[in-house]
Amino acid sequence: MEQEQHLQLDTPSQPRRRTLLNRIWALIALLAFVELGWLSSSLLRARKSRYDRRQGSRYVDAGRVESFKAGDVKAIPEALLFLACLEDNRFIALSRTCTHLGCALSWDTAEDKFVCPCHGSTFDRAGVVLTSPALRPLDFYPVRIEDGQIRIDVSNSQRRESFDASQTTTV
Ligand code: FES
Repeated sequence: MEQEQHLQLDTPSQPRRRTLLNRIWALIALLAFVELGWLSSSLLRARKSRYDRRQGSRYVDAGRVESFKAGDVKAIPEALLFLACLEDNRFIALSRTCTHLGCALSWDTAEDKFVCPCHGSTFDRAGVVLTSPALRPLDFYPVRIEDGQIRIDVSNSQRRESFDASQTTTV
């Protein structure tokens, strides 16, 4: 009799517990679905912007010639590169990616060189190695100057083994 009463007390709570568990599982599944959708759309957007950069707007405007003086180095963060104005007023656009293992470089104005935070490689204003372990110069991008406007072809990164003037552009 006592056991029967106990069973009668437990029986109504089991379906309620099952219903609660089902709701929790449904909520978890819904959250996972929403997160998956958000992740997919983020990946598609990133892929589209890379595609647009290649196909549509290949050139990035880097400013006007008269806004630079010899020795200036300007970061172009949207294109992950630097534009340097060399001592002879020639321009060169440099990748900010270290040629050792690919870390992002920064320009040290006081030391007048690019510095890699990972293993200490340094590069001069033209992207030439000053300090190893990097062994080759920074990749560069073609620069065009049209009516005083400096434009960089970001779709066309070029690997090189040494520096020469043909990698630079002048007015
Ligand atoms: S990644 Fe730049 S020195 Fe190693």
